[in-house]
Formats: sequence, structure tokens, C-alpha cells
Amino acid sequence: MTTTRTPIEISRKTGKVAVLADLHHDSYKKIGRGPFESHGLDNSLPWAELDALIIAGDLANAPFTNWPTAFAYLRCFVDPSRTIIFPGNHDYYAEYLNADDELEKLAIAAGGHFAQQREVRHGDDRYICTTLWTDLALLGDVQIAMNVAHQHMNDYAQISKLLAVDPLSRSELLGRPQRVAITPEDILALHKAQRRWLEDQLAKPHWAPNGRNFVITHHGPHPDAASQIDGLTPAFHPDLTPLLDRCRIHGWYFGHSHRRLAAQIGSTAVRNVSVGFPYEKHSPEELPPEELCLVPLPGASG
Ligand SMILES: [Fe+2]
Repeated sequence: MTTTRTPIEISRKTGKVAVLADLHHDSYKKIGRGPFESHGLDNSLPWAELDALIIAGDLANAPFTNWPTAFAYLRCFVDPSRTIIFPGNHDYYAEYLNADDELEKLAIAAGGHFAQQREVRHGDDRYICTTLWTDLALLGDVQIAMNVAHQHMNDYAQISKLLAVDPLSRSELLGRPQRVAITPEDILALHKAQRRWLEDQLAKPHWAPNGRNFVITHHGPHPDAASQIDGLTPAFHPDLTPLLDRCRIHGWYFGHSHRRLAAQIGSTAVRNVSVGFPYEKHSPEELPPEELCLVPLPGASG
């Protein structure tokens, strides 16, 4: 179900916005730690000065169990009224792909904002947010990429979809909608819908004459921010080069691969702002998240 969500307005005080992804709070909780302390982010980010913290997906698996605890953790750093989230693939784990309206209720119950297919306005900046998913076309053969993804991605075992219920069959199903596993075709269809929405948003004129456009997604927009490319990379990165070429996008923040890389694609600074799992190994080419996650103030370089 597609819901049209009105823009989120965040008041501009300091102008500082941080974008982080892939906190996987439930994984840290299991070992008695927190994602920010584990990576020194508790001390390296200006939490008290942030106008907004945007979480670009993968806050926690099994959100109906784990999001409330994760939001309670975030509250220690940023007021919920300044916390904005949309789901990554893991936020649908143990749940279903068309659960956005229920996830929105969880975010609102915690005092936060839900930004799936939604614009965030802050000063003269607009942040266009969506999970994005992927077309699985990065290496040219979609069918091969679908097969690899289906075999290796936990998404297809962990995420379900709810099929519409025929009212005449409700009694046979004991009043419960039918729940089945998602397929790569479901992901491709969702990507097409979210990509179309994203393109439509970017085609709209900015309300501010010198306003900046930022895009925040869970999946990556370009292979240059993917590092080593293999058969699974299409499950993480569509190639949105035409969109990047066509639109004036100042920055694009994402996560998903947990590879904390920076790339310059034309005029767009692309940043992977993943925190990642506990004890996850990172390659020497990667940067610390605190160097990637702060949105440059207007007029600043970087
Ligand atoms: Fe993740």
C-alpha cells in the first residue's frame, strides 16, 4: 500500500544534521553493548547540537519487538522529536514487506518521525527519503542476480508479504490474511515504485531558490560506492547514474553494504554511513562513520 506522507518539518537551530544507517541495535543489545559506544560515536558526534538524526534503515530486526527498545536507546542521544527513520531490509525481518503503516505507528509511538517515501524539510534543505531497494541489474543479467540474491540474502527467508484476503474466504483462513515469503520479483517491483517516486520528487522545483537536495536511501545509488563488486552486489546497489547526471543532488547518504565509503559522482557526494554489526571487519579503504555522517553546513565544502 502506498501512503502519501506529508513533508516532515524540522526547525533549524544549529543547522547540524547527522545521517546514520545500519545501527542493528538488537545485535548490540544481545552482547550488552550499544552501537554508538562500540564505535566511539557517543563522544565523536555533537549530539546536543543536532537539529536532526536521520536513520537510513536497519535500526533492528523484528521491529515490533525491537524498535521500542532501540528508540529508547536513541533517546539517550537525541530527542525523539528530532529523530527520523525509514526502514532498511532488516526492519522488515520477522515481519512483512507491506508493513510500513505499522512501522510508522511504532515510530510515532516512540515520539519520532517516519520517513518512508517522504520528504524532510530543514531550513532550505530537503531530504528525500526511501528504502529504494534494487533492480538487481547492476551486472546486466537480472535473472542471474535474482538467483544469487535469493540463494544468499536472508531477506527471502525472513520477510513475508501479506496477500489480500478474498472476503468470501476469510472464514477458511480464520480471519487471517495469507502470509507467504517474498521473492526477488517483489523486491524489483518495490524498487520500481520507490525509484519512480524518488524521480518524481527530484523533478519538482525546490521551494527555496538556493535550496539543496539530499537523497537518503538504504540501498546504494552507484557502483563507485560499492567497493569490490561480486555476484551479490546487485542486491545492494542499483546503478542510478542517469538520475545522478540529470538532477542536482548535493549529497546521497545510504547504508546496507556496511562498507563506509565515500565517492564523488559528478556534483553529488555519495556517502555510506553504516554503523554495522558488532565485531564486523572493515577494510582499510573505509572511513570512520563520524567522518561521513554529518551533512555539510550550507556554504561549507565536503
Ligand atoms: Fe545492515
